[in-house]
Amino acid sequence: MQQSRESWASKIGVVLAVAGSAVGLGNFLVFPGRVAANGGGAFMIPYFIALILIGIPLAWMEWTMGRFGGMLGHGSAPGVLSAMVKRPYARYLGSIGVFGPLLILFFYVYIESWLLGFIWYALTGELAVASSSAETMGAFFRDYIGLKTTFSGIPAALFFFFIAFLLNFGIIYLGIRRGIETISKVLMPLLLVLGVIMLIRVLTLKGISSGLGFLWNPDFSRLLDINVWFAATSQVFFTLSIGIGTILTYASYVKKQQDIVLSSLTANAANEFFEVIIGGTIVIPTAVIFLGAAGAQDVARQGAMSLGFITMPMIFRQFTFMEANIGSIFQVLWFVLLFIAGLTSSISIIQPGISFLEDELELSKRKSVIVLAPVTLFYCLMVIFGMNAGAADEVDLWGFQFSLLFFGMIEALLFARIFGRDRGLAEMNRGADIRLPGFLTPVICYVTPAFLVVLLILWLTKGGGMDAILLNNLKEAQVSFIGLKMSNRTFIVLVRGCLLLFLAAINFAVYLAWKYKRSQDGVIQ
Ligand code: PHE
Repeated sequence: MQQSRESWASKIGVVLAVAGSAVGLGNFLVFPGRVAANGGGAFMIPYFIALILIGIPLAWMEWTMGRFGGMLGHGSAPGVLSAMVKRPYARYLGSIGVFGPLLILFFYVYIESWLLGFIWYALTGELAVASSSAETMGAFFRDYIGLKTTFSGIPAALFFFFIAFLLNFGIIYLGIRRGIETISKVLMPLLLVLGVIMLIRVLTLKGISSGLGFLWNPDFSRLLDINVWFAATSQVFFTLSIGIGTILTYASYVKKQQDIVLSSLTANAANEFFEVIIGGTIVIPTAVIFLGAAGAQDVARQGAMSLGFITMPMIFRQFTFMEANIGSIFQVLWFVLLFIAGLTSSISIIQPGISFLEDELELSKRKSVIVLAPVTLFYCLMVIFGMNAGAADEVDLWGFQFSLLFFGMIEALLFARIFGRDRGLAEMNRGADIRLPGFLTPVICYVTPAFLVVLLILWLTKGGGMDAILLNNLKEAQVSFIGLKMSNRTFIVLVRGCLLLFLAAINFAVYLAWKYKRSQDGVIQ
């Protein structure tokens, strides 16, 4: 098994793949909205503190644990944690590292498919017409996601969803080198080119300084608000793709003697460039120029989706270059940029599931795809048809919020407690192009795990996590799901039942895998 495991062909390949996972919709849509809503430039203080104390250290830990697990033939959290801890509880805890990423996928890949649809409509010119007013653009978007717009006789949103879905699994089927690495090597430089083109155009707009000022002028008084700190920390998790098992899996394909310290840092730095420089320049500052400060504030409040799919096409429509209108071109560029960012992220959240099936159930790549794709499809369709009824919010709650924090905390605690200071650092530094700076050792072993425990508790109490779990603030309403009418509470309970079933199935697979295939785990060298 071990000998036949795949590996990345090159160092740059894995760095680009990890950067591809990190740079996603979060960078371009979520980040600028959060900065605008949480004190402008002042937001960057908690953001950088979280980046240094949690983000970068946790990424290093994931890389280290992942490469360690990979050496012993394990690429997903149940296997990796079990190889580290060698107690049954570890592999069951690890099931969250397979469940969480897929949960994110159920919704992420759908949004990604909207981008594909919007690229199509930007190319056909329909978007240019729709984006002439807020009313028509809003209606266009609502019809699209409401499955009213049709394409070849079926709802366009479903049509493009199937394409995006197949594309994702197609890349996964091709494998680590031929699929993920190749696509990352092609798409990430392209993403940079697209990002820089947009950046230059935006920076040369008249009035850009007031736009940038609007976004970045700090309001330090906001730092007293715990929710600002919360928003910054969860943004760091989300944007680096850490705390959920994806980087763990990617790192398991890194060769034993290959650097991880510098590679991880490089991928994270690339992500920050896309987030702070490109993401922080395009969206909100242009909105200020075209809609005024009050308008931009309104838009930021309406959330990432309306910003990306309604406001930005309208703004780009007005872009000119030497008197000529280049609006349609920029609409296309915008959606291509987002689609590439989304695709390189969504493949990374499928891979942990595939690695689990390959490494622990010893299925071939083909069989792993055949098992995972239909299950994923079922849950994606549940989210698509249940979006208005609240299915997407549930997936967000359990995937992006709960699993991310919970699993991140488990990773940090296990790293610190099981590997411990010396062995953990030795493992991390093996083959390192740069060694971990000594002053970071206590951060990794004490500060990061403690920070994460506190964060989970704060999320449950002050961050509204417990209320969301217990449905305390739910306003009762009737919803309709594939023609069936029911109360929203009943629907959410149904969705949770389905998700629980999925988690149970993963745990059952873990049980079977260890029962029949592995009576002994590898020994930490
Ligand atoms: N980092 C991705 C983004 O910014 C989202 C993501 C989270 C991807 C977790 C994989 C795992 O959009």
